[in-house]
Amino acid sequence: MKILVLPGDGIGPEVTAQAVKALRAVAANGPQFEITEALIGDAALHAGGDPLPDATLDAARRADGILFGAAGTYETDLLPPEKRGGHGLLRLRKALDLYANFRPVFAFPELLGASTLRREVVEGVDLIVLRELTGDIYFGTPRGVHRDESGQRYGVNTMHYTEAEIRRIAHAGFSAARGRRKKLCSVDKANVLETSALWREVVTEVGAEYPDVELSHLYVDAASMHLIRRPKDFDVIVTGNIFGDILSDAAAMLTGSIGMLPSASIGPTGSGLYEPVHGSAPDIAGQDIANPLASILSAAMMLRHSLKQEEAARAIESAVRHVLAEGYRTADIVESGARRVGTQEMGDAVAAAVSRYRH
Ligand code: IPM
Ligand code: MG
Repeated sequence: MKILVLPGDGIGPEVTAQAVKALRAVAANGPQFEITEALIGDAALHAGGDPLPDATLDAARRADGILFGAAGTYETDLLPPEKRGGHGLLRLRKALDLYANFRPVFAFPELLGASTLRREVVEGVDLIVLRELTGDIYFGTPRGVHRDESGQRYGVNTMHYTEAEIRRIAHAGFSAARGRRKKLCSVDKANVLETSALWREVVTEVGAEYPDVELSHLYVDAASMHLIRRPKDFDVIVTGNIFGDILSDAAAMLTGSIGMLPSASIGPTGSGLYEPVHGSAPDIAGQDIANPLASILSAAMMLRHSLKQEEAARAIESAVRHVLAEGYRTADIVESGARRVGTQEMGDAVAAAVSRYRH
């Protein structure tokens, strides 16, 4: 099984290194992996002027699973797209048609105190934000900054969804809900945007094929409120690219830290890219304080969904729960009385726990 690791920028390399430790611990007594690395993001820009080099894209196409760190930093964030590290990730998602982005939000019992929300609000939260990842205002054209006749600059981006794009993500949402508590909430802004009105219509049509799944609709502003107020009401949330980007960061806070949240981006053939929901966090890079658990849990999702190694996936997830129960905490989730550890020590602890589970 070929795994491609794309460490990228900021804390990307340090957290993916810990996930690789966990994968090696799994491989010591089970599935064999061929793990290779390639450049993406600012790291690739510095090396050769392209945030997604052809060699990286080729390797990504050949891989059975891709473990991604983070791409882009403040250094390039505001440059034109082709010079922006984060653009490498967007291009990769598009090139591999990774349209279905699953962002599971799960409240670890040990971390309930780490959330800014009250314990009774977050205890038992178990939801998935299913974000469409290859369409919407992220990719729609026309786009750009231009000048009008008076010489004034204006910016334009285009929210764009085809029926087919909405249909396939809706199917992914209903199937996911079917395997869980059978509730799907579709989020849009149909009271203002035509694209959203079409979204709602198509999702409703697809819903007729899933009579066993309870479908509801929320406007994105109301959804953001409900997410903070009554997060346990949600099972699967399906939404477009931009709303999903925003809602998933908010949802991450239910768990106490965005440093805990993994994600899976799946294409039509089941190929997948796995990445922490957090970004490159350049402000804390290189200090050995970043939480590697989101990356480690992303590796577990990769084992489960793309490599079909359920047992190995569970070994990693159990190991994470185990180290949390033992009191290991990185800075973002530390509470008084806990054992504060750095990125590497957390990675070592998880790898050691994986080894124990596999023997
Ligand atoms: C995410 C990130 C990316 C996005 C950025 C880095 C381009 O915020 O994966 O949520 O907006 O999709
Ligand atoms: Mg985001």
